[in-house]
Amino acid sequence: MMSRKTGDAICTWKYLGQFKKLGVCAVVVLFLWYSMVPTPSMVPIWDLQDEKEEDLSGKIVIFAATNFFSAPFTNSNFQECNLNLRNACSISSHRAHFSQANAVLFHSRNINSKEISSFPFPRRQEIPYVMVAYESPYNAKLETYKDFFNWTMSYRIDSDVFAPYGGLLRNSELVKVNYAKIWRSKTKGTLWLVSNNNVNNKRKKIVEKLIENGMKVDLYGKVYNREPDNCPRDGAQEGCDERFQSPYKFVIAFENSNCKDYVTEKFWRKAEQYKMVPIVMSRKIYKDLGIPDNMYIAVDDFKTLKEFVEFIENLTSNEKEYMKYHKWREEFRIAEANQEIFGFCDLCQKLMDFQNRTIPKKSYSSLIAWHNEENCDNSFVDRYL
Ligand SMILES: *[C@@H]1O[C@H](CO)[C@@H](O)[C@H](O)[C@H]1NC(C)=O
Ligand SMILES: *[C@@H]1O[C@H](CO)[C@@H](O)[C@H](O)[C@H]1NC(C)=O
Ligand SMILES: *[C@@H]1O[C@H](CO)[C@@H](O)[C@H](O)[C@H]1NC(C)=O
Repeated sequence: MMSRKTGDAICTWKYLGQFKKLGVCAVVVLFLWYSMVPTPSMVPIWDLQDEKEEDLSGKIVIFAATNFFSAPFTNSNFQECNLNLRNACSISSHRAHFSQANAVLFHSRNINSKEISSFPFPRRQEIPYVMVAYESPYNAKLETYKDFFNWTMSYRIDSDVFAPYGGLLRNSELVKVNYAKIWRSKTKGTLWLVSNNNVNNKRKKIVEKLIENGMKVDLYGKVYNREPDNCPRDGAQEGCDERFQSPYKFVIAFENSNCKDYVTEKFWRKAEQYKMVPIVMSRKIYKDLGIPDNMYIAVDDFKTLKEFVEFIENLTSNEKEYMKYHKWREEFRIAEANQEIFGFCDLCQKLMDFQNRTIPKKSYSSLIAWHNEENCDNSFVDRYL
């Protein structure tokens, strides 16, 4: 973002002719773009490891062959696991630990085929090589890694290790929900806080169409160049996010693409932390994940946007009906990624289960078909536009 701004400033040089100006701008913007936007690390990190080799004997060692975006995979991933798992598993990228590893991790955004083919360690047939993919297929294309990966670890429910951004845990007994208190706190309508407009599913267009159809939405975020009052992104006061967001009854929780099982923290955190009812595009994605129907409202339940807007309008002023969308709180609570049941804890548990047995052989000849844009449907919005 910063690079763009700097580029714009330079572009206001008045004495350049129109044509020259455009050319210079393009060059400057491109240059700044390339020099300032961080690219995910592609460096083979095992060569960079110079810290002291830790003694991991007796541990389940997970060898991280790549970084996770710009930072290494670390043991903090096990922080929320139960004590048993926390003590059992350890992540390392130290060259010396490869031979005792119980699994090898590769993050989709940090590798390409070339690097895979130059992976310097001899194949260890008896342990799983794991493809970690947290992003939608639009943002992480999986290349042809032929007969290389044994397991997948991602937000997809059919992954070998299911690592969603969040999920529901069933309460051991029904929880008493203070509905009156929630309703009293809900003094505002619908919020959309959006920072990224570089998306695949026309989410901005559909929000604007909703507004055209009479929906009242408070628009905030980088896309609208509008920061919440008294709650700027930098230097915000403690609790200000909560004060800003919690009064809203609804939040638009459109993802950047509509892909199978792709539900991110946008959805989970807003429902949990700020007790808002998420508005999503397509019910099917959420239903497939087993999320209760009355936890959210889907645009595609309605034939027209007009009907949808009227429905929201009706709910806004109808306490009894609105509260139905909070009833799930009696039965469930939300857990976000990193918590006990998800991702790394499951990976650790699964490897532990295999500790004294050989792992049943499994391998993917290719992951392209599993993780590509055909698993997404961004077109359905077109029928509303
Ligand atoms: C909204 O409420 C009105 C009045 O109760 C009702 O006639 C209408 O069908 C409702 N609209 C929707 C979309 O639920
Ligand atoms: C695996 O075997 C080791 C050594 O025989 C033993 O100490 C350990 O308790 C076993 N672990 C499990 C999970 O059975
Ligand atoms: C992993 O996949 C490779 C390549 O297909 C295969 O040779 C190996 O036996 C597999 N290992 C496991 C533990 O599944």
